[in-house]
Amino acid sequence: MLKSNTTPKNILILISGSIACYKVCTVISQLKQKNYSIKVVMSEAAQKFIGIATIEGLSSEMPITDMYAGGSVMDHIHLARWADLILLAPATANTINKMAAGLGDDLITTLFLAHDFQKPFLLTPAMNTKMYNHPTTQKSLTELKKMGVEILETASGVLACGEVGYGRLLEPDLIIKAVESRMTGCEKIKSIEKNIQNVNRKKILITSGGTQEPIDDVRVITNKSTGKTAAFICDQLIESGFEVTYLHAENAKLPMFDCDKVSYLSFQDIDLKISDLLTKNNFDYIIHAAAISDYSVVKSANGKIDSDEEYLTLQLKKNPKLIQKIKKLSPNSKLIGFKLTSTTDATTIQNKINGLFEMAHCDYVIQNDWATVKTGRSVFNLYSKNNKTENLTVDDLVIEITQIILNQESV
Ligand SMILES: Cc1cc2nc3c(=O)[nH]c(=O)nc-3n(C[C@H](O)[C@H](O)[C@H](O)COP(=O)(O)O)c2cc1C
Repeated sequence: MLKSNTTPKNILILISGSIACYKVCTVISQLKQKNYSIKVVMSEAAQKFIGIATIEGLSSEMPITDMYAGGSVMDHIHLARWADLILLAPATANTINKMAAGLGDDLITTLFLAHDFQKPFLLTPAMNTKMYNHPTTQKSLTELKKMGVEILETASGVLACGEVGYGRLLEPDLIIKAVESRMTGCEKIKSIEKNIQNVNRKKILITSGGTQEPIDDVRVITNKSTGKTAAFICDQLIESGFEVTYLHAENAKLPMFDCDKVSYLSFQDIDLKISDLLTKNNFDYIIHAAAISDYSVVKSANGKIDSDEEYLTLQLKKNPKLIQKIKKLSPNSKLIGFKLTSTTDATTIQNKINGLFEMAHCDYVIQNDWATVKTGRSVFNLYSKNNKTENLTVDDLVIEITQIILNQESV
């Protein structure tokens, strides 16, 4: 954890040689504007992508590039001591694999060998999808996680090489958010530490994203759920010290911070996976935010249905309510259900909420309406059996959820 008696402000940024190096310039610039002290180490390869002058101009300090430069031969020890937080961004496959293997043949890897895991070490990979998915890289990332390095997920999207997939550097604002969440002062860190003691590693399951019901091998019926709210809640709960499992649709937004993840596709798939998770674990809380299809196609076609058909009839069958299964499989867990409504009629909304309390035995229900979701700024109402807290932003909602969980005895 961070030094306890001073406000953390020293950030050491390590840059390795990726095409995404230019993005870290924004990170440095914005952190500097927020009055953090920044020191930068650049690998030899990084200097081929961005110039020393750019980094010096942005950070107000000459970046360190040579482990053996006269007068700074002990930098790997001094820098490690100076920093309140270390960020490797972008992290190349080469540097990640060297770190996991324990090599120390340049300043970045030597700094990592001198790291004592008493302060945050964040790493955000950037590379071609194939390099990212390479078994060596994946194994190294797993090893580094085990050691205590925090891996910020890569983004999915179009890569510099033209391929589409995972490996893209996280956008600067998300990197800054992750860094700041570790640097917002000792008070927050202390409260997180306190939470970690209080929470007794309470276990939370969060479901996220929307199901995809196959029509044939290439077409699906799905919904507009993105997993954004669930991923946000997930990140905040991880940050508060809870042990979170994220059961997410394959295309749902992922949390930035590391946690156990299980993915699903269809109703049938999530039904199996949630049943498996609930039978093998004792979750204190289950936050069921996934948008589950009410209907599945009776018999999805093999291959691709011909597109010459003038009319096409699909037969759908109603799925059982997954949420009603949760308390049956895990009676001691507390259940927070989500209800998306699309009406202004208060009685209709109340009836739907009551249904979740009665049929699914929810302990809490979070309701939001499509009208606010559409604007990109959801407004949430949190119901307990005899109380209602209205007009919550997603930030307010997370605070409420955290308080609820903290006040509950472990199962
Ligand atoms: C144009 C170009 C772009 C590159 N982009 C990446 C990248 O995004 N990620 C990566 O892991 N390697 C990338 N590489 C390869 C690394 O630069 C190379 O493995 C280098 O040895 C990394 O050194 P370092 O880890 O010490 O910085 C790129 C190479 C070139 C020529």
